[in-house]
Amino acid sequence: MCGIVAYIGRKPARELLIEGLRRLEYRGYDSAGIAVLDGGLTVVRAVGRVSALSDRLDKQTDFDGTLGIAHTRWATHGTVTEANAHPHRDDKAGICLVHNGIIENYTTLKRLLEDRGHRFVTETDTEVLAMLIGELYEGDLEAAVQGALREVTGAYAIAVICEREPDTLVVARKGSPLMVGVGKDEYIVASDPSAIVAHTTRAFPLEDYNVVRLRRDGIRTSTIDNTPVTPKMMQLELDLEQAELGQFQHFMQKEIFEQPAALRNTIRGRITPHGDSIVLGGLTRYSKELVRARRMILTAQGTALHAAMIGEYLLEDLARIPTEVEYASEFRYRNPIIEDGTVVIAVSQSGETADTLAALAEAKDRGALALGVVNAVGSTMSRETDAGVYLRVGPEIGVASTKAFTGQVMVLALLSLYLARRRHMSRERCEWMLAELASVPDKMERVLEQADHVREVTLKYVERENWLFLGRGYNYPTALEGALKLKEISYIHAEGMPAAEMKHGPIALIDDGMPAVFIATKGSQYDKVINNIEEVRSRGGHVIAVATEGDTEIAQHARDVLYIPDIAEPLSPILAVVPLQLMAYEAAVARGHDVDRPRNLAKSVTVE
Ligand code: F6R
Repeated sequence: MCGIVAYIGRKPARELLIEGLRRLEYRGYDSAGIAVLDGGLTVVRAVGRVSALSDRLDKQTDFDGTLGIAHTRWATHGTVTEANAHPHRDDKAGICLVHNGIIENYTTLKRLLEDRGHRFVTETDTEVLAMLIGELYEGDLEAAVQGALREVTGAYAIAVICEREPDTLVVARKGSPLMVGVGKDEYIVASDPSAIVAHTTRAFPLEDYNVVRLRRDGIRTSTIDNTPVTPKMMQLELDLEQAELGQFQHFMQKEIFEQPAALRNTIRGRITPHGDSIVLGGLTRYSKELVRARRMILTAQGTALHAAMIGEYLLEDLARIPTEVEYASEFRYRNPIIEDGTVVIAVSQSGETADTLAALAEAKDRGALALGVVNAVGSTMSRETDAGVYLRVGPEIGVASTKAFTGQVMVLALLSLYLARRRHMSRERCEWMLAELASVPDKMERVLEQADHVREVTLKYVERENWLFLGRGYNYPTALEGALKLKEISYIHAEGMPAAEMKHGPIALIDDGMPAVFIATKGSQYDKVINNIEEVRSRGGHVIAVATEGDTEIAQHARDVLYIPDIAEPLSPILAVVPLQLMAYEAAVARGHDVDRPRNLAKSVTVE
C-alpha cells in the first residue's frame, strides 16, 4: 500500500528519500514521487517503479535541499497516472503534501473549494487536502494542517511542506501508520520503520489525531485541536539484514525457507523446561478472564483469516471454548453480539490492517477483552489491544504472507494449549502435544528438502488456468490458503473449499486434466478424503496429494504425492501448507511474474 518518507536535517534529502522509497517498495505501489524544498519547490513524479523516478531525478541536477517528502502510491482515487501520483500541491500558498489513506468527505470539500475559486488538476482525494491546507494557511503551516484535519473525515498519514516555511515539516496521522525517527539534528519520518532504521533506531509512533511539527532544532507534538502531546519514544529492533535477500531470488522464497528458524523463535521460552506447560508473558494479566472465557471471536482478513480458521478448530478441539471466525470487514459493520465473557482476538501480520483495526475498536467499545496475535512489534494493533502474543517471525517483506501464516497458527496452537491445560487437559496429553509442537521446526526442514520435487510437480500443471484445493477438518483452511497463495502471485484461478462441498456444485468444473490439490494427511477424516479424491479422479481430474510420510496407499489414488512428516493432527496445517506455498512460488516464477510485487496487491492494506 502507499508509503511515505519525509526528511528534515542537514543532509541532502534527495538520495535519502529515494533510498527510503526503495525500502518501502515491497509494500506494493504503482507510481512514485518526491518533492524537495531548496529555495523553491521541486516536484518530480513517475509512473512505475522507484527506479523510474530515480532515473528522472538523475537528469535533474539543479536542485538540492535538506527538507523533502516522498511517496509510493497505490491507486485508490484516480487512475495510475503521473498527474495523480503524489506529492500534490495547492494553488495558492505553496503547500505540497504526500498522503496515505482516504479522505472520505473529499467531494463535499472539493465543491466548497471550487466555489472559492480553486482549480483542481488531479482526480485524487489528496489534492483536496492540499488545497484545504492552502486555503487555511495564514503564515503558520502547523495551524493550517490542524485546521484542515479538523474538517476531514477518513484516514490519513500525511507529510506536508510549504514554500514559505523552508525550515518546517508537518506530519499527522489518523488510522494510517506513521513514525518519526529521531537522529542528531535530523528527523526521518516514514509509514514503515524499515525506511527509518538505516538512519536511527530512536523513534516514536504517531497516535491518531497527532500532529508533529519538525524543525532541525526540535519538534512539537500536539493533537489536531492543538493540545500538547508527549510522544512515547521506542527503540526500533529491525535488523536490516532481515530485509536483505541474501542467497535467495525473492523475499517470498527466503521467507518460506526461513520458517523453521522463525518458528523456533515463536516457541522459544514459551514452553516450560519440563515441557509440561506454556508461558505466554503477554497474557499473564488476563489469565483468569481467558480461562473463564465463554466465547472467542477471531477476526482477520486474507491469509490471517485462514490462520484464524485453524485457530477456531484448535480452540474448540483442545481448549473446548466456543469459537467463531469472522472477516473483520464484516464484523465491524454487522452489529455483533458481545456478551459477558467474550474475548475477541485480532490476527494480523502487520498490525495495521484497517478493517481488522476497526473490528478491534468495535469489539472493545462493546466491552470485549481484546487480544492481538500480531507480528509487527509496536504496530497500532499491538498498542490498541488489551494484551497479546507476538509471532516473533521477523519482518515479512514478501507480499504473499508465508512465515506469518505458520507463525499465527503456531501462536494460536500455543494459546489453545495454554487454555486447555488450565481448563481441563491432562498433563500427559498436554506434554505430548507440546512435544509435537516442539518438533514442528525440524519436521518442516524435512518438508523444505523436497522443494525440487515440488517444483517438478508444479511444472507439470503450470499451464492450467483453473485449480481446486480441497481439504477437510483442520486442513480445510489449509486448502483455502493454498488457493489464495496460487491466485495472488501466479494469477491462476484457484478455489479452495471443504472437500465434501465439491459435490454441491463445484464438481461441475472438473474436466480432463484439471489439477486438484488434496490435503490428504493421516487423520480422523483420511478415509473420507480418499473418497473425495476418487470423485475427482473418476471425472478426469488430476490429483496432487499432500500426504503423510509412510502412507503407502495414497500413491494409488493420486498422480503426484508431496509427503510431509507425521505430526499430531491439530498441527498438521503448519506442515501441510509448506508444499502449497512452494507450489505457488514455483508457478509464479515459471509464469514469469514478479513474485514479490504481484499486480494490484499491497503488503499491508491500510484502507478499508
Ligand atoms: C496474502 C496476504 C493477505 C494478508 C491480509 C491481512 O498473502 O498477505 O491476505 O494476510 O491482507 O494482513 P495482516 O495479516 O497484515 O493483517
